[in-house]
Amino acid sequence: MSDTRREFIAAIDQGTTSSRCIVFDRDGRVVSVGQKEHRQIFPEPGWVEHDAAEIWTNVREVVSEALRKAEITRRDVRALGITNQRETTLLWDRTTGEPVHNAIVWQDTRTDALCKELARNVGQDRFRRETGLPLASYFAGPKIRWLLENVAGLRERAEAGEILFGTMDSWVIWNLTGGPDGGVHVTDVTNASRTLLMNLRTLDWDPRICESMGVPTAMLPEIRSSAEVYGEARGELAGVPVASALGDQQAALFGQTCFSSGEAKSTYGTGTFLLLNTGSEAVNSYNGLLTTVGYRIGDQAPVYALEGSIAVTGSLVQWMRDQMGLINSAAEIETLAGSVEDNGGAYFVPAFSGLFAPYWRSDARGVIAGLTRYVTKAHLARAVLEATAWQTREIVDAMEKDSGVELTALKVDGGMTSNNLLMQQISDVLDAPVVRPMVAETTCLGAAYAAGLAVGFWPDTDALRANWRRAAEWTPRMEQDVREREYRNWLKAVERSMGWIE
Ligand code: G3P
Repeated sequence: MSDTRREFIAAIDQGTTSSRCIVFDRDGRVVSVGQKEHRQIFPEPGWVEHDAAEIWTNVREVVSEALRKAEITRRDVRALGITNQRETTLLWDRTTGEPVHNAIVWQDTRTDALCKELARNVGQDRFRRETGLPLASYFAGPKIRWLLENVAGLRERAEAGEILFGTMDSWVIWNLTGGPDGGVHVTDVTNASRTLLMNLRTLDWDPRICESMGVPTAMLPEIRSSAEVYGEARGELAGVPVASALGDQQAALFGQTCFSSGEAKSTYGTGTFLLLNTGSEAVNSYNGLLTTVGYRIGDQAPVYALEGSIAVTGSLVQWMRDQMGLINSAAEIETLAGSVEDNGGAYFVPAFSGLFAPYWRSDARGVIAGLTRYVTKAHLARAVLEATAWQTREIVDAMEKDSGVELTALKVDGGMTSNNLLMQQISDVLDAPVVRPMVAETTCLGAAYAAGLAVGFWPDTDALRANWRRAAEWTPRMEQDVREREYRNWLKAVERSMGWIE
């Protein structure tokens, strides 16, 4: 009999700035981590690309690193889960496995004009009833169309079935399971729900929308549940079942064990994404949120979510470090911001990729408002952190309007949650407690949980809930009148960012 204490689940998180592999034990504890950053390619203002071949090389390396650090081999791994940056769009040749172009990243705004054209006469909500999404450059469908129109000969090859489309989950799973030599071409419902091509009720590609978008269905992956065995890995993990896929934000919802309707989490990474579990109901948003699939376990009914997506939060701190040189490390922002009492009157709206929820304005660009000679880089650092807090507040307001439920506490995770000043600011502007779990790696954990459920490593979601433990909590300290005044100023600054691009 095998010794069950020596079995693990591995999860790959193919994220916006890096790829990681984490090995978890049966208690959901992190055993080891492998991580590697990849290049961010900015060919033109507003464009963001990734080299998918570099990413696949990195994925293999981080898997090796995580196994080596855990001192285990593939025989100790019961299943492998995948989670990924969502919407980032890749087309590749089915026979050679070569990408036909760099991946177009979710933050990229090149399809803005195309989205406006698709919305003409009908409006931005043309496909919202079916897909839960507004027409915006964020999503994958318009990116596919852009590639088909801008890479010579590609449309003909796609129509002939020579080209495959995938978000990064599909790319990683296809390569893991053999690539051109029998790789499975699949995606899961959560990733598919971000393409603007999947019908939320049938959980299948919507033929009418694919036609309007100009996307041949022959290139689309098969849509599967988030927790089932898609195939077996080759290479270093040969024989290990690849048993889950979830977009990273849905994976974090799963990792935070938000399994009941009304439970919400917010993940603070490159961007910030707040998801509220709405159970078996796909709730329509009238306040600028997205309706999306939260997860689907095997052949069980899907669980839906309302999502508030913020494009730029952690990446604003990176920009302060890499492009402005105002800090040397991301962690330094907390010390700098903490060296002053307040923002000195400055407000920073980081609309680098336009504004996502609740505005969906791709014509917006970043602004710093309220500058006087008094303002120092420390005030700006504070305004940078406050931008994340106020954007969270706007999402929570929209969510309360759509769901009718008042937020009692917010579960948080992601890299930025190590910033205590920011966590306090969020609690202050929401006027609600903010809670961080013991295992902050909830994205990988969610993918591991889903894979573990698929192979019977964990019996059910109750067993997963038992692993969730609170590590830290922040409670509001801000005076009501200060909160209201600052919020009004923030909204004025947001106003100034809109309509910048004609
Ligand atoms: O929708 C975009 C999101 O999935 C990206 O997440 O954590 O890679 O920035 P992250």
